[in-house]
Amino acid sequence: MSKLDNTFGQQTVSQQQREEKIRRVFKLVAPRYDLMNDFMSFGTHRIWKRFFVNFIDFKSTDIIVDLAGGTGDIARKFVSKGANVIVVDPSVEMMRAGVEANSLQVVNVAAIGEKLPFADNSIDKLTISFGIRNMTSMSDALKEIHRVLKPDGQYYCLEFSRPMMPIRPFYNLYNQYIIPRLGALVAGQPEAYQYLIESIRRFPDQEEMKSLIEQAGFSKVTYRNLFFGIACIHIGSNESP
Ligand SMILES: C[S@@+](CC[C@H](N)C(=O)[O-])C[C@H]1O[C@@H](n2cnc3c(N)ncnc32)[C@H](O)[C@@H]1O
Repeated sequence: MSKLDNTFGQQTVSQQQREEKIRRVFKLVAPRYDLMNDFMSFGTHRIWKRFFVNFIDFKSTDIIVDLAGGTGDIARKFVSKGANVIVVDPSVEMMRAGVEANSLQVVNVAAIGEKLPFADNSIDKLTISFGIRNMTSMSDALKEIHRVLKPDGQYYCLEFSRPMMPIRPFYNLYNQYIIPRLGALVAGQPEAYQYLIESIRRFPDQEEMKSLIEQAGFSKVTYRNLFFGIACIHIGSNESP
């Protein structure tokens, strides 16, 4: 079990309480989620997400699952490049916000990462962007991702990580003091954004994340830092080493 699996903010809670609270957070933030991302990251989340999608080589016949896909912005980027993508997310509110705000539609499926509605070895690529830290159980979700991927399938995860030293103190101050205030001003949800920041703060760093992915059964796990490690892409392969 990872250090995030039984916590919510600073409280220790049961898995069920954590799951219910996470659902509540995304129900609350859904209407302004994309707008808040632009404010909080000064638009850089768009650069990271574009880089992430362009980073991934896929064939037109590949089935890609974008887990924790939320409003579907990663999936839409893939669809514009000719990919077959399925968004999986338990928050109907997040997916609905994406449907209402966009003309380009994607396939949405309501499910959780810990119990994916796919057969063993059936998916070519599974992507997850800023979602793995919200799983009720990150270790169960990683094992489940490993189960559904084909033997030559790949897992790609874009997530906040531990920035390098010269910028780390500024980044921590920004997260601690500015984001909850922006959450209050723009989204009217300071507590929801407090949770999001807390989940970033407690999240495993690059090397810890790498070993969690390996523990789930992936081989050839590598990562690539973005913006001095503020964000990071982890890649895991299902191939035998
Ligand atoms: C921070 S948002 C990320 C949305 C989108 N991928 C992006 O990059 O903007 C996290 C998403 O994870 C979803 N989520 C929470 N718990 C989950 C779980 N157990 N399984 C799958 N998705 C989950 C939430 O509903 C939410 O849409």
